[in-house]
Amino acid sequence: MAPRVFFYTSNPGKVHEVELVLGDLGYDVVWRKAELIEPQMDSLEKVAAFKLMGVPEPDSPAMVEDSGLFIPSLGGFPGVYSAYVLRTVGLDGVLRLVRGKDRAAEFRAVVGFRDDRGVQLFTGAVRGRIAPSPRGKNGFGYDPIFIPTGYRRTTAEMASEEKNRLSHRGIAVRKLAQWLAREGTRPPRRARTTSVRNVA
Ligand code: IMP
Repeated sequence: MAPRVFFYTSNPGKVHEVELVLGDLGYDVVWRKAELIEPQMDSLEKVAAFKLMGVPEPDSPAMVEDSGLFIPSLGGFPGVYSAYVLRTVGLDGVLRLVRGKDRAAEFRAVVGFRDDRGVQLFTGAVRGRIAPSPRGKNGFGYDPIFIPTGYRRTTAEMASEEKNRLSHRGIAVRKLAQWLAREGTRPPRRARTTSVRNVA
């Protein structure tokens, strides 16, 4: 039977992208839609590690993913506030904020994985710039206004497979897959340790 990874997220777009990467590598991604407590903290790593402490089935391999859009000319904003900013001022609000400023931006992701060996964190980042206006129908969130470096299209104008090859999430999930290949998957059993280790 394919090893199972329980992915705790409320975002179906993330599930789709993670399934494409881990599914290809022989993992069965099981979506756990249950909302975990989403703390407001000053780094994605802290948010991911905190959320993993609250998984309702600690005896099964669990995964979370936290990401954000960081714009250096705005001091890294919206960063860890990305979900809140999208819900409140939306893409138009972000476009207004960067008007007349340097449009360089970076998507960052932290994938957290927990099993009886403890918590492992994997990071991924992709550089790009903020588009002049929203374009494209694929993906989710900020995809219509993010153009990766070396491309003319936004990530919302790419198929998920293409986005995964270059994206913050794709990079972080592939690091998790490499770690699982190296360290081995374990059958679910009660988690005993809560140590947190930054792998990359
Ligand atoms: P969270 O990690 O679920 O809190 O997401 C942070 C915010 O960044 C949400 O508003 C997401 O929609 C957005 N976001 C995260 N990853 C991506 C992505 O790959 N494309 C576009 N927006 C993203």
